[in-house]
Amino acid sequence: MLGNSFGRVFQVTTCGESYGWHATAEDAGYGGSLFAIINGVPAGIKLDVQQIQDECDKRRPGQSPIDSPRLETDRVNVVSGLFEGVTTGAPVGILINNVDTQDIHINQYRDVKDVIRPGHAEVNFFHKYGEFGDWCGAGRASGRETVGRVAAGAVAKQILADEGIEILSHVIESHGIKGKSVSEGTLSFEELKENYRKNDLNCCDLEAAEKMLADLSEVAKAGDTAGGAIEVVVRGVPAGVGEPVFDKLKATIAHAICSIGAMTGIEFGAGAKATHMLGSEWNDQPVVEGGSVRWTTNHAGGFLGGMSTGEDIIFRVAVKATPTISKAQDTVDMTTMEPKQLEAITRRDITLLPRWYPVAEAMTALAVVDGLFMTEAWYGMNKKLDPKWRAMTKPRNTGDYTK
Ligand SMILES: Cc1cc2nc3c(=O)[nH]c(=O)nc-3n(C[C@H](O)[C@H](O)[C@H](O)COP(=O)(O)O)c2cc1C
Repeated sequence: MLGNSFGRVFQVTTCGESYGWHATAEDAGYGGSLFAIINGVPAGIKLDVQQIQDECDKRRPGQSPIDSPRLETDRVNVVSGLFEGVTTGAPVGILINNVDTQDIHINQYRDVKDVIRPGHAEVNFFHKYGEFGDWCGAGRASGRETVGRVAAGAVAKQILADEGIEILSHVIESHGIKGKSVSEGTLSFEELKENYRKNDLNCCDLEAAEKMLADLSEVAKAGDTAGGAIEVVVRGVPAGVGEPVFDKLKATIAHAICSIGAMTGIEFGAGAKATHMLGSEWNDQPVVEGGSVRWTTNHAGGFLGGMSTGEDIIFRVAVKATPTISKAQDTVDMTTMEPKQLEAITRRDITLLPRWYPVAEAMTALAVVDGLFMTEAWYGMNKKLDPKWRAMTKPRNTGDYTK
């Protein structure tokens, strides 16, 4: 399998599957793990391992009635690159064991291992790995794979926090029920912080969250699942991060987010609304504020030319409904090429949203830290550049938009 690494300077490689290493009849026991190996972590950082654990705990299943009941402890083990609590500059290795790998669930997957599960990735695993693919719990295509990303993202978040950069994500829509959002100007960044993780969905519009949760319990009773949307806000990124052509920061973030399973769309700033806006409405207009170039609106979502403007980076992501549902669906058996009916009994999330936003935060952190390191490398190479150009726009770290 190719493509298990992300990043150019701050480079993360993950491995591991939903259940992982399976026993044969002669070789008893199960016990896979998820790994993240991070190259490019600077030396001398006092890494807070509890904070890595806290980030992984946000994503952990089995925390509420809308989550998959799989009981993974997701205990984080930092196994390299850290000496007496401080990074050494060597690769940071993080190991997380799968612990809830019971026969009853493995056999449920075994029963349908040759059948295409609608909405799932395995049909392409058949095309790429034939009969050798891991069929248990979706193997490497499982949402479980994302715990390694969250662990690595937590390291990135600590580096970014030292630079005054915060990344927060929350749920803004579930099954057509909309909540307030920063991008629409109906929720301030401060309210987002205040209401962060106050309910099972992490919808920071608390009234809308109640409606969403009531609706999701009906969806669950019907044996179905629901889609929705999250919003990500990054505050404090200096202007000029990202490269102007293929390695735009916007493109790196899109790559990071599009690599998470179940996403169906991403829009930055005013996003799809741009299709019906005039140039005079869409253009964010610059002003000088406290000696710095600022924009009074942020339709661009924090980017111009794909590089950061110093304003908040804001984007929304549409996330599809969990593919596993317990209603009968038509499908095909890949070994017999005969039609089949499938009615899932395996464990699943009713909505992916509360599991998804921590992964979105982590992948955004990886994209931003990598972009930032690239930008630092560029400035390091350009000693003739007057630093005044760099200092002209300070990153937004207070206040919201006036319009
Ligand atoms: C954190 C996370 C948890 C997930 N949990 C489940 C789940 O419990 N059941 C399920 O059917 N899909 C789950 N998925 C979604 C599938 O992994 C994904 O839809 C599938 O691999 C197909 O990929 P695609 O939707 O990008 O085409 C989860 C995804 C993520 C990111």
